[in-house]
Amino acid sequence: MPTIKEILNTMEYGPAPESQKEAQAWLDQRGRAFGLFIDNQWTAPGELFASQNPADGSKLADLTQGSAADVDAAVAAARRAQPGWQALGGHGRAKVLYAIARLMQKHSRLFAVLETLDNGKTIRETRDIDLPLVARHFYYHAGWAQLQAEEFADHRPVGVVGQIVPWNFPLLMLAWKIAPALAAGNTVVFKPAEFTSLTAMLFADICVQAGVPAGVVNIVTGDGRVGEAIVKHEGIDKLAFTGSTEVGRLIRQATAGSGKKLSLELGGKSPFIVFEDADLDAAVEGLVDSIWFNQGQVCCAGSRLLVQESVEKKFLAKLRARMQTLTLGSPLDKGMDIGALVDPVQKQRIEGLVQSARDEGCEVYQPACELPANGSWFPPTLITGASTAAAVAQAEIFGPVLVAMSFRTPPEAVQLANNTVYGLASCVWTENISLALDVAPQIKAGVVWINTANQFDAACGFGGYRESGYGREGGREGMYEYMVPVSEDARPAAPVIDAQAKPAKAAAAADPFAIDRTAKLYIGGKQARPDGAYSRAIHGADGKFIAEVGEGNRKDIRNAVEAAHKAGGWTKATSHNRAQVLYYIAENLAARGEEFAARISAMTGSKNAEKEVQASIERLFYYAAWADKYDGLAHQPPMHGITVALNEPLGVIGIVCPNEAPLLGFISLVAPAIALGNRVVVVPSEAHPLSATDLYQIFDTSDLPGGVVNIVTGSADELARTLASHGDIDAIWRHDGSAEGCAEVEKLSAATLKRTWTGGAKGRDWYSTAQSGGRAVLAHASQVKNIWIPYGV
Ligand code: NAI
Repeated sequence: MPTIKEILNTMEYGPAPESQKEAQAWLDQRGRAFGLFIDNQWTAPGELFASQNPADGSKLADLTQGSAADVDAAVAAARRAQPGWQALGGHGRAKVLYAIARLMQKHSRLFAVLETLDNGKTIRETRDIDLPLVARHFYYHAGWAQLQAEEFADHRPVGVVGQIVPWNFPLLMLAWKIAPALAAGNTVVFKPAEFTSLTAMLFADICVQAGVPAGVVNIVTGDGRVGEAIVKHEGIDKLAFTGSTEVGRLIRQATAGSGKKLSLELGGKSPFIVFEDADLDAAVEGLVDSIWFNQGQVCCAGSRLLVQESVEKKFLAKLRARMQTLTLGSPLDKGMDIGALVDPVQKQRIEGLVQSARDEGCEVYQPACELPANGSWFPPTLITGASTAAAVAQAEIFGPVLVAMSFRTPPEAVQLANNTVYGLASCVWTENISLALDVAPQIKAGVVWINTANQFDAACGFGGYRESGYGREGGREGMYEYMVPVSEDARPAAPVIDAQAKPAKAAAAADPFAIDRTAKLYIGGKQARPDGAYSRAIHGADGKFIAEVGEGNRKDIRNAVEAAHKAGGWTKATSHNRAQVLYYIAENLAARGEEFAARISAMTGSKNAEKEVQASIERLFYYAAWADKYDGLAHQPPMHGITVALNEPLGVIGIVCPNEAPLLGFISLVAPAIALGNRVVVVPSEAHPLSATDLYQIFDTSDLPGGVVNIVTGSADELARTLASHGDIDAIWRHDGSAEGCAEVEKLSAATLKRTWTGGAKGRDWYSTAQSGGRAVLAHASQVKNIWIPYGV
């Protein structure tokens, strides 16, 4: 007997178009030409460009290409408005955000139709997914505004925020950006994508109706030049960008050294893993939602199918059969699964990549499907037989194109899943919960959907690992992106270090028979001679020679990074276990406290060396305490299930330590990093490195596994440069008071989009827990992974 689905699949549906009358009337009413929305006023339309309906190529309206002067005006308006918006208080802002949410719901059909006309995505998606999520985002953040004084008492808004979004979810990305920024008390200069700005224009009207004060939301349309002007504007305190990894990299480079806070949500090549015991029919439906949702123009699209070999044939047969039933056509037709691509440019890009697969001998399957004559269309496509290195297996295609591969064992699935520079999302399909929860933490991605796909909620943070960017949108962690700890405002200037205290390298002692007292490097739990066989003399505060330390170079850093990667067992160790090691280090340091104090005082002339040792011991206790308490959260989004937010370590962190407080500064950076399971390559204080080299024996006797902490002494500038350029480091922290040095590592970090935490020219009160401890520091050492686990379905 045929199943209900089979019967439904054989039924013919007539067209069911959604009316576009209201949307067209709104465009007419606005004269089909838009200026910019600055200070709650519309500027007169300026240099114009057309916005088209990608489903038929017809022109919808003209938009203004903003200029640098327009961006200036928008930033000035936002700056004027910010203190008043902040002073309005949490409840005042909550009321405005609530009013926006209500109005978005009231006008949701108009927004949905306008979005479909402008973007080409189906009305089913704009109506049932985008708009409900938009409203939910404003409601949820109205809540954070209300609770801000209580829940974020030790934070303040960043100030004026620049926000740049792509064209694939125009209104949803607007909501993801504007709602948290406003909730936290910031004002914004927002740039929609040039292909899809119309719903942002309608949103401006909603802001006025909702009582958003003038200057709080400013919208400047135009292409990448407007984006660039926002990125480079000195009046912007924070940038939030969603778009291609390529532009994300440019933005990281352009903002290096500017002190602007930055969050980047970039591309992806997300794996969709199907184990042999999965509910295969459900997994096929999940895949449809994953790769053919929004024509595959989704940063978290499940674009790489990894299916267990034992069920590969069966699964692909089901998939091909399902592909034949996908409907493609007018996006306003409520029965359509697949709409139009955003622009002919996107179509060409997709065609090029699919052709490359054909050229490489892959099998390209496309169901028979009639494409409309006008507009930009591409049929659902399945590619098999691609090698893991093929362009289609590595590049973000951003179209309705799935690349399928098979695996034999769970470890192989994980290895293939992580064989990408990206790390945005992933799906795991299996009926075995133990297998699912074993695999999920091993996937390097910010989101894991178990037996579901493309679920989003305002309460659950969204964002990437690796070259998918950093920062989260949604949830508590998303709010922190729009705030600054108030303790940051009290940071002192970095102390000026006497140039004499940073001696240049010297050749190793000429006398081959002299006993070498040079402190070596510490790599993989062993003392290692520096590769270059050079050392540098360290002098005390009185100018007298104390000792020599090794002059580390590029090769030493390479060895240290390799050793850190080999120490992956530390990340898998229990947090209890890591805490025990930190306590043990503290205990052993206490036992040799006098010796360490004497060393500090000899190097720096400090009269408070004992205090520094005591504070270091306390800091070790502090992070040992945190190691098993920095727990994640269990969210209950509007679905039958839970979303578990885990605070995961970043991996390998390069750390350049401050010169002041040579022991406490070192401990204050290394301890939180390793407490959460990271491994580190540390460049200790360049001027006073001996407190760090004296720690080797303490580490050796405290059960710290080799490779967890690696120490390379030498030139902070040179070693920082090498760390920041290294392809296999996940984050770099620099806190030695060098503004130029911090700018340089930020710039170099762009190549592989490492996370950065830099202090610029400012120092830090290393004795103050407010400035040098707390969740803000732990957040730098971790990234949130959200694992979605529906149940009972
Ligand atoms: P894009 O990254 O160039 O554009 C995104 C936004 O950034 C737009 O508002 C654009 O005007 C702006 N922009 C462009 N250049 C800029 C610059 N130098 N400085 C500041 N802002 C700038 O993405 P595009 O060209 O629309 O799409 C190209 C490819 O990027 C797609 O085929 C896709 O592979 C990927 N993409 C990924 C997205 C994601 O969500 N991960 C979103 C959009 C595109």
